[in-house]
Amino acid sequence: MGNELIDKYVLFRHRDVENIHQIEVYRANDGYRALEKALKEMQPGDVTNVVKASGLRGRGGAGFPAGVKWGFIPKDIYPKYVVVNADESEPGTFKDREIMTYNPHQLIEGIILTCYAVGAETAYIYGRGEFAPVFRDHLQQAVAEAYRHGYLGRNILGSEFSMELHLHLGAGAYICGEETALLSSLEGQMGQPRSRPPFPAVEGLYAKPTVINNVETLTNVPPIVLHGSDWYRQYGTEKSPGTKIFSLSGRVNKPGNYELPLGTPIRYLIEECGGGIIDGKAVKGILPAGASSAIIGPDKLDTTMDYEAMAAAGTMLGSASFIILDETVDAVWAAEKNVKFFKHESCGKCSPCREGTFWLVNVFRKLREGHGTKQDVELLETIIEQMKGNTFCLLGEFVVPGVRTSIDLFRDEYEALAVAEEETTPGPAKDLIHTFF
Ligand SMILES: Cc1cc2nc3c(=O)[nH]c(=O)nc-3n(C[C@H](O)[C@H](O)[C@H](O)COP(=O)(O)O)c2cc1C
Repeated sequence: MGNELIDKYVLFRHRDVENIHQIEVYRANDGYRALEKALKEMQPGDVTNVVKASGLRGRGGAGFPAGVKWGFIPKDIYPKYVVVNADESEPGTFKDREIMTYNPHQLIEGIILTCYAVGAETAYIYGRGEFAPVFRDHLQQAVAEAYRHGYLGRNILGSEFSMELHLHLGAGAYICGEETALLSSLEGQMGQPRSRPPFPAVEGLYAKPTVINNVETLTNVPPIVLHGSDWYRQYGTEKSPGTKIFSLSGRVNKPGNYELPLGTPIRYLIEECGGGIIDGKAVKGILPAGASSAIIGPDKLDTTMDYEAMAAAGTMLGSASFIILDETVDAVWAAEKNVKFFKHESCGKCSPCREGTFWLVNVFRKLREGHGTKQDVELLETIIEQMKGNTFCLLGEFVVPGVRTSIDLFRDEYEALAVAEEETTPGPAKDLIHTFF
């Protein structure tokens, strides 16, 4: 799995160096050197500053600059926490799992550096329940090795700095990737979102200042600290620096994870990395951020994959889970599949999301089972319009762009399913919807 756009992998170092999951191999290949450098030569604020200067943006979806977030942590409140978001539940995203499985020490080193930078002495990696084998067979061993070699625990490498790292598995829920729901789940409460503000940086885990970052985000930190921000900025664009892992799935010949510089065109990912579309078919639609994205059409294949260009193209980069639909895919079926996912994962806390996803699934089913009318297509539009801006957290908000763009791009397919003249089911869903909203 070579990559011509970067001479050496920044995040997927296991693809260059065999067995880098073993601490001896990791150490023989610059492993834990950034930590040694930081503890010997850098003040905690210097670590935050180099990460700020690198322009590293959060890889969990929102793309918020990591160093800026760390800068929000109040200096004089203790304890503080670092929480690593390893929930990775977005359909089509499977990059954090590869890091944790094959390059775990780079993540652990990134966590230690983050704790040092913000003055936290306790960190947690929160993983989705389905990651039990990854935690049990890979991460746990790596954490134990790091303790044995003095990179975790008391007086790390003979310095004044001490910290503990704990692994925690949730029960498997998409909402627990949302940072405030994750914190509630970590505290042992039901995984439901909290209102913000206060933001976790001020009142996070146990109401104390908390940095919460994605696995991939923190895996970038050791090479940034070791080689500096200018080195990091050789990759990517000015506003979206660095490399990013793109999870490619759907109707391509070679689905998988590909680490590329931010700013690489979508076409490169599909054609060069993914080996093109199965049976040479044409691209019909692209979901760049899994189920949560606005769909873009094949006219956007030359858009570059960075936060700005994707937003300008009417969608978002998110966690960069590119799901590719080709001309053989039924657009209504694909949209229904995503809506069913959101209905299943809606935590139920707010009615626009809980009821909205329920009614969307019902109307999709009605259309696909051959009882749909033209009004039902309009009804789908009404429901998403009512959800937009009205849900408690972004989960409900994520439902809207996929349905909206699916109808906009493929309206003919929806209308082809609107076969019945009038409502064919008793008690029109439309009236019920208006009662609910
Ligand atoms: C419904 C929902 C699900 C999310 N799932 C994840 C996830 O699985 N992993 C993740 O890192 N961020 C996820 N996020 C984003 C987090 O709330 C948060 O922004 C992120 O952990 C911050 O880390 P970063 O700045 O390093 O990206 C999700 C957000 C929402 C609204």
